[in-house]
Amino acid sequence: MSILITGGTGFIGSHTIVELLAAGRELVVVDNFCNSKPCVLDRIEQITGKRVKFYEVDLLDYDGLEKVFQENEIDSCIHFAGLKAVGESCAQPLRYYHNNLTGTFNLCALLSKYGAKRIVFSSSATVYGNPASVPIREDFPLSTTNPYGETKLMIERILKDIYEADHEWSVSILRYFNPIGAHSSGLIGEDPQGIPNNLLPYITQVASGKREFLSVFGNDYNTHDGTGVRDYIHVVDLARAHLKAIELAETVTGVDYFNIGTGTGYSVLDIVNAYEKATGKKIPYKITPRRPGDIDMCYADPTKAYEKLGWRAQYGIEEMCRDANNWQMKNPNGYDS
Ligand code: WQD
Repeated sequence: MSILITGGTGFIGSHTIVELLAAGRELVVVDNFCNSKPCVLDRIEQITGKRVKFYEVDLLDYDGLEKVFQENEIDSCIHFAGLKAVGESCAQPLRYYHNNLTGTFNLCALLSKYGAKRIVFSSSATVYGNPASVPIREDFPLSTTNPYGETKLMIERILKDIYEADHEWSVSILRYFNPIGAHSSGLIGEDPQGIPNNLLPYITQVASGKREFLSVFGNDYNTHDGTGVRDYIHVVDLARAHLKAIELAETVTGVDYFNIGTGTGYSVLDIVNAYEKATGKKIPYKITPRRPGDIDMCYADPTKAYEKLGWRAQYGIEEMCRDANNWQMKNPNGYDS
């Protein structure tokens, strides 16, 4: 019996595949390469010595996706596939709603049809909006401020309704905080297209000389140094949380939600300092105006993941910076290097 991995050649999907293969799990991977490259499969094979079974399929192609179910014994699914750029989602809401929701509809219809009613869903701390306090627990109010975040919240609610209608389902919803870093080999990592939206890939490109300086988006937030505070988590720790979540989904039915973070918040300037300390690289920066939509602070209370999944983040901020830097130095142009 196999686990179906959608979006498996992406940043988090590829790292999760490495951990699942190391745990001896059988996988079938689908991706449409809209935000990743085929060579990721080669890199995964270099790390694990295993070639995963792969289909180039868009989740919007119901018949193409059904062929995967017809040719394999799918028992469960980890669902990563989706568009995920906040700013782009504001510019292209219909594309985001169609892609992320219709793809999930097709996937869940086929999981049900073929009796594979176990799913781990890649959600995001963005569903908490601007929290009234931190650390954030799973029972905090939910709200979103952009179409991308709204698709995540809608899919959470859709999965809950699917379970309410059919209690054979098992749904584990993982709300990621800020995934960063890379596999220690430097063979897989975060490969943003164009100018990075997120902090760490931008910093790694400054460190490599690809960008001149970091723009710090505002230093007048209500935080210890005025810059935005987030819960950065090593992508390998995040990947390992998926192994725990699929194991839970294989043993119980129901719907449950888990914050996947370290429980520690770092500001932008904390990250700059940690990166310089971990790598010996200087990160020049300039304070610029706030980025619209950014919030002051966001970090997790990860207690529930520890108590119910038996998972806790292991890596600290220096390892995250060290591994992110190693990936960038070995792959100056990402997978195009
Ligand atoms: C982190 C901090 C910025 C870039 C986003 C998505 C979220 C999730 C993770 C998908 C903030 C500051 C950033 C820069 C900066 N993605 N910053 N200069 O915004 O917390 O979350 O990525 O699920 O949905 O919203 O992450 O890395 O963009 O920003 O000062 O060049 O770094 O203001 O305080 P964010 P981020």
